[in-house]
This record gives sequence, C-alpha cells and structure tokens, in this order.
Amino acid sequence: MADMPVITVDGPSGTGKGTVCSFLANWLGWHLLDSGALYRILALAADKHAVSLQDELSLAELAEKLQIQFTAQQAGSLVKVMLDDEDVTDAIRTEACGNAASQVAAIVPVRQALLARQHAFCQPPGLIADGRDMGTVVFPDADLKIYLTASADIRAERRYKQLLDKGIGANLRDLSADIRARDERDSNRAVSPLKSAEDAIIIDTGELEINEVVNAIRKHVNETFPNLQQ
Ligand code: DC
Repeated sequence: MADMPVITVDGPSGTGKGTVCSFLANWLGWHLLDSGALYRILALAADKHAVSLQDELSLAELAEKLQIQFTAQQAGSLVKVMLDDEDVTDAIRTEACGNAASQVAAIVPVRQALLARQHAFCQPPGLIADGRDMGTVVFPDADLKIYLTASADIRAERRYKQLLDKGIGANLRDLSADIRARDERDSNRAVSPLKSAEDAIIIDTGELEINEVVNAIRKHVNETFPNLQQ
C-alpha cells in the first residue's frame, strides 16, 4: 500500500465530492472508495436486522460481517451497490439513511471495524478516496489531499434541486436544518471528526461550477504526479 498513489477528497455533503471523485476516478482509471456509502450501508443493514442505532457492539459486529459489493464503475454511470444479494444503490441515498449513517459513524468500534475494509480499496493503479477522514485518519500519507467546502445554505439548495430533479418532494428549510445538524454531529464527534488535514488543499465550491472545481483539482493532480499517463 505504501507506494500506491492515493488522492483523498474530504468535506461535508453537498460540496460536490461525489461528482468530483467519480470524474477523477474515470479520468485516471483509478479505484474509487465512497466511504460514506459504507456508513450508509451499515445504517440500512441495522434497520434490516432490527439492530438499534444505540447498540454499539452489535453495530460493530454487523460492520465486520457486511457482505458488500460495489460494481466496477463505468464512465458517467453511478456505482451499483449491493448488500447481501440486494441492490441498495437507491435505498442508501435517502435523507433518513444519511442521518442514520451520521449516527453510526460517530461510534468508535464501528469506525475501527470499517478501517480495514477501506484500506483494502487501495489497489493498483491508484485510489481516489471520498469521505470525511480520508486525509486525516484513513490515508494520512496520501500524495494529494483535497478538502471541499461550501456554506450550509448553498449545500441545502443544491440538495433541494437534486431531489426535485429526481421527482422527490423536499422542503428547503428542513433540508437546511438537517444539513446543519449533520455537520454539527460529523464535526464535533470525538472520533475522526470532519476536518481538513493540515496538508490539504482547501477549495470553496460555493461559487464554482463543477467543471471549475474539477479543473482546479486536475491542475493539482498534474503537479503532484508529473509522470502520470491518463
Ligand atoms: O458522504 P455521505 O453523505 O454519503 O456520508 C454519510 C455519513 O457518513 C455522513 O453524515 C458522515 C459519515 N461519514 C463519515 O463519518 N466518515 C466518512 N469517511 C464518510 C462518511
């Protein structure tokens, strides 16, 4: 793992991390770790197996045993996520699942149980790691660390538009409150809180189009890996 090139992209939800990471993985032909999906899958599995979100030990045991499969991603398409033999690609993307994921993600034994799984994604030719603690805890030696940020209001508006585009009704004020509550919990938890690594490049995506964010990151990738062949 030591010689494997790794780029980490951290930051709160709604900053465009998912889109940026999927673009980078396609562009470079590298693997993609969507670490938030792991916490979301665990939250969904807990619901399925009637495990309480307060039952830390059972949640950690469940995290060890999860049968998860991410299908190889193709340019422009979403990664398919399987839990046991069930396609949970859409089920893990609901607001309720995101909130439950934020709760299980604050539990120390859960984070420990998911650590080895995350390291296992580090395979040749390289890895793009998307999350909250990729640059601080999971891949502290990453070659390039990016931290995306944007105000809570802008992120809530983006989420609102995304949901409307999908035909899902939403209330902007509720979304904004949810985002602030989630930020609060993710940033203030004792273990692996959401924060930028000291050596991360911080990009505020609030006033930028996604292609501008991608172009800014591409410049850093080219500087960090001058011999890369895409
Ligand atoms: O990125 P996301 O919205 O899919 O993440 C869902 C939740 O999982 C988020 O509220 C915080 C948590 N999470 C985390 O604690 N650490 C990570 N590396 C990724 C996500």
